[in-house]
Amino acid sequence: MEFADISGRKIAYAVRPPNYDPQALSLVFIHGSGGDSNHWKDQVNGLSGIATSLAIELPGHGSSGGKGEQTVSAYADHVSAFVEELNLTKVFLIGCSLGSAITLWIALSGKPWLTAIGLVGAGARLRVHPSFLEGLRQPDPSNALSLLSDFCLSPSTVGPLRSSVSEKFERTDPAIIHGDLSACNEFDVIQRLGQIGVPTWILVGSDDRLTPPKYAEFLHKNIEGSVLDVVNGAGHLVSMEAPDIFNERLASFITAKL
Ligand code: COA
Repeated sequence: MEFADISGRKIAYAVRPPNYDPQALSLVFIHGSGGDSNHWKDQVNGLSGIATSLAIELPGHGSSGGKGEQTVSAYADHVSAFVEELNLTKVFLIGCSLGSAITLWIALSGKPWLTAIGLVGAGARLRVHPSFLEGLRQPDPSNALSLLSDFCLSPSTVGPLRSSVSEKFERTDPAIIHGDLSACNEFDVIQRLGQIGVPTWILVGSDDRLTPPKYAEFLHKNIEGSVLDVVNGAGHLVSMEAPDIFNERLASFITAKL
């Protein structure tokens, strides 16, 4: 893990290869609510032969310092400051869930370093079911956490990933997850998708129950020139549930569009 100092706050990130050219294409991955860079372990390890691969940990998450935020725009400011601190000039920003909202927000703010975006388990609006938000505020949030971790994965995803996702949520401060989901709940760029002017890759698992495929289809219909890929039998955490297919589809998009 590497660290960057962003406005006096320690921001952790995974990067491969360690000695990279900041002017070459960089894939910058952003995790979802309550997540960390481990979300993208198979991408950072598997795609570094194609482009520099970095996975940021948002403030208050993983090994990063600071507190979590309550809005997508506040997180977008941190991610932009991170890219600028590292002097990355050609960035393909890829986010899942909350990370996809941050990615869309940055795309709509017209950053000169933004080359392309990837929207995974995404939506132009991300209303959150009240049972998650209310449940996370209870003295014992375990029911909400177990419901959330169950909803993250396809029913056909079994084995160690299922327990590692639920253990990760249990280890994370419920207030951080609540802040992240509140940020999602307020997010709505449905009316602004026509302003996105960078190549856009959209990926969704066919069994995604948090951001169903119809959200991805809506993004595809409203973002000109976008590419939509659906991974059969995967859920919301498609990068972990089907890492090889994920990496293959992303590599194909890079070859075709960048
Ligand atoms: N893209 C395209 N369509 C969307 C959309 C998006 N991002 N978000 C909502 N819509 C659609 C809905 O499907 C619905 O269409 P319909 O009337 O044809 O069924 C309509 O817009 C209104 O949706 P919404 O404002 O979200 O209200 P709702 O009452 O349908 O649903 C929830 C609200 C919270 C119950 C619902 O979003 C839900 O079940 N969420 C659970 C999953 C969750 O919490 N995800 C967290 C994401 S981080």
